[in-house]
Amino acid sequence: MINALGSPQSLLLLGGTSEIGLAVAERFVGDRTRRVVLAGRDPVALRSAGERLAAAAAPASVEVTVLEFDALDRTSHAAVVDRAFAGGDVDVALIAFGVLGEQERAERDAEHAVEVVTVDFTAAVSVGVPLAQALRAQGHGSLVVLSSVAGERPRRSNFVYGAAKAGLDAFATGLGDALRGSGVHVLVVRPGFVRTRMTAHLPAAPLSTTPEAVATAIVAGVRWRKETIWVPSVLRLVMSVLRHLPRAVFRRLPI
Ligand SMILES: NC(=O)c1ccc[n+]([C@@H]2O[C@H](COP(=O)([O-])OP(=O)(O)OC[C@H]3O[C@@H](n4cnc5c(N)ncnc54)[C@H](OP(=O)(O)O)[C@@H]3O)[C@@H](O)[C@H]2O)c1
Repeated sequence: MINALGSPQSLLLLGGTSEIGLAVAERFVGDRTRRVVLAGRDPVALRSAGERLAAAAAPASVEVTVLEFDALDRTSHAAVVDRAFAGGDVDVALIAFGVLGEQERAERDAEHAVEVVTVDFTAAVSVGVPLAQALRAQGHGSLVVLSSVAGERPRRSNFVYGAAKAGLDAFATGLGDALRGSGVHVLVVRPGFVRTRMTAHLPAAPLSTTPEAVATAIVAGVRWRKETIWVPSVLRLVMSVLRHLPRAVFRRLPI
C-alpha cells in the first residue's frame, strides 16, 4: 500500500532489465519499497539486477522475485500477472519493456516490423488488460507506462517504432480514463531521447536525457498522481509545436 508520504511498498517491473526501469526501481528501493518483482527474459541478467537493487536499498533490505516474461509469448501474460500478485499487493506496476528495432529493415521485412509492433504495442495491451484488472480488484496502485515522444508525431526515421508507441500511448491514456474512480492511477510517460543501451548506437538527439532523470520524473509523477509527463518537461511545449507543423515542413526537420 502506498503510505501517507506517497511511497510505494511494492513494485512490479515488466522489462526487469530495462535501464530506465531499473533506475526507477533504484529510486523506489532507496526510499521505502521493500518488495520488487522483476519480470523478463534473461534470468541471469534479472538476478544481477536484483543484486543492484539490494545494494541501492542498503542498509535496508529488499525482497526481489524474478519472473519469466516474454512479451512475444502472449498466452503466458495473464499467468505472469497472477504470479506477480501472488506475493501480495502491487503498489506500482511499470511497463518498461520495448525494442527500437531497425527502421530500414522494418521497411523491407514485414516479420521485423511486426515484431517491433508486437513487443511495443500488442504485448503491452496483452499484459496491460490483466494488470489493470488485478489493480482494479486490489482497489489501489499506479500503472506506469513508458510511451515516447516518438508516438506523438511519428517521424520518417523511426515510424514503425513511433506507430507502436502511438498505439501504446492511446491505449494507456484510455485505460487511465477507464480506471478513474477505481483507486488505480495510470501515468503515461513520454521521454525524448534517453541514453541507454537501446540508443547507445545513435547520436544523441537535442534535449537528450538520462535514465536517472526519467526516474526522478516518474517517482514525482506517481507521488502526485500525474496522468501524463514528458521528460524533460520542456518537450511538452516542443511537441505541441511540432505536432502542428505542416507535414512538408516536419519531414524536412533533421530529427
Ligand atoms: N531509451 C530511450 O531513448 C527511450 C525513449 C522513450 C521511451 N523509451 C522506452 O522506455 C522503455 C525502456 O527502454 P530502455 O531505454 O530502458 O531500454 P533497454 O534498457 O534496452 O530496456 C528494454 C527492455 O525491454 C525488454 N524486452 C525487449 N524485448 C522483450 C521481450 N520480447 N520480452 C520481454 N522483455 C523484452 C528488454 O529485455 P532484455 O534484457 O531481455 O533484452 C529490456 O528489459 C522502452 O519501452 C522504450 O521504448 C526509451
